[in-house]
Amino acid sequence: MSTVNSSLDKIRQEALQEVREAATIAALEQVRIKYLGKKGAITALMKEMGSLSPEERPAFGAVINQVKQDVETSIEECRTTVRRKEREESLRAEAVDITLPGYRRGVGTVHPLNRVCQDIIDTFTSMGFSVAEGPEVELDFYNFESLNFPPNHPARDMQDTFFISEDVVLRTHTSPVQIRVMERCKPPVKIIAPGKVYRCDADVTHTPMFHQIEGLLVDEKVTFSDLKGTLEFFIHRFFGPETGVRFRPSFFPFTEPSAEVDIQCVICGGKGCRVCKGTGWLEILGAGMVHPNVFRSVGYDPEEVTGFAFGMGIERITMLRYRIDDIRVLFENDLRFLRQF
Ligand code: PHE
Repeated sequence: MSTVNSSLDKIRQEALQEVREAATIAALEQVRIKYLGKKGAITALMKEMGSLSPEERPAFGAVINQVKQDVETSIEECRTTVRRKEREESLRAEAVDITLPGYRRGVGTVHPLNRVCQDIIDTFTSMGFSVAEGPEVELDFYNFESLNFPPNHPARDMQDTFFISEDVVLRTHTSPVQIRVMERCKPPVKIIAPGKVYRCDADVTHTPMFHQIEGLLVDEKVTFSDLKGTLEFFIHRFFGPETGVRFRPSFFPFTEPSAEVDIQCVICGGKGCRVCKGTGWLEILGAGMVHPNVFRSVGYDPEEVTGFAFGMGIERITMLRYRIDDIRVLFENDLRFLRQF
């Protein structure tokens, strides 16, 4: 009995020693299997109880149960410590220094063309105009014919047109929107129409695609002085109240009389410089009183209503506002340029 006791004690010592040395949950599990598993050392000894005499059995049973309990308890305790150690280890390995500055996501800015376009829209909507749009791929009928460009008229050559087919073009101006709106609505009409237009032309001040904004006002008794007042209000608000404005007689098939509008040079203030070619003036838009033939083509009676129209290039106005001397930078999307706005 005492030899059994001492060998049991040896097993106990060994088992506890190995439990203490187990550094991971997996190692602990190995120890448990070695001593308490189905084929474990302690389990094997328990099976031997059957071969003992009935007198020996209770004492042996008490001792081996105690050993079993001790080993189980110590594994349990160790498991808690090892688990905590493993957790601390992984927390340390995955630690994030939350005091480091984060990665900042770049925030975009509004493109100068969109900004200028929106400013122009705001000025006119503040005067009661509403925004209208039309297609960029347009019928010859809307781009030319209904705007009083007769077939084969030389004025069609003024606008280097991209043809899609014989009677379909990329619109060369925003004026076709005038027709589309008047076809749909009865007077009074008071709209501005911003959008892309296309002409086969490219140099430092021209790109094959550019933007225009069109204005149209039709009502009873609209006069040329209404046109002048509206455009002067816009120019003073946009370029400053001191800016000089002049109207020069001009020609467009869809307006009569027609004018081109100049502003005092924003670079030299009118003294004459390279930008205004020494004249002191810069052309910024075309305008005029809607031609009676245009009214007739949309079913308006030119005896009953009159109106004015104007159109301007957004790129040109943007270049003047920000002193940009090459139109191409507006389309290259170079961030060093765009970040300045
Ligand atoms: N559509 C003309 C152009 O592109 C501009 C314009 C619009 C002129 C309205 C008069 C009236 O050149």
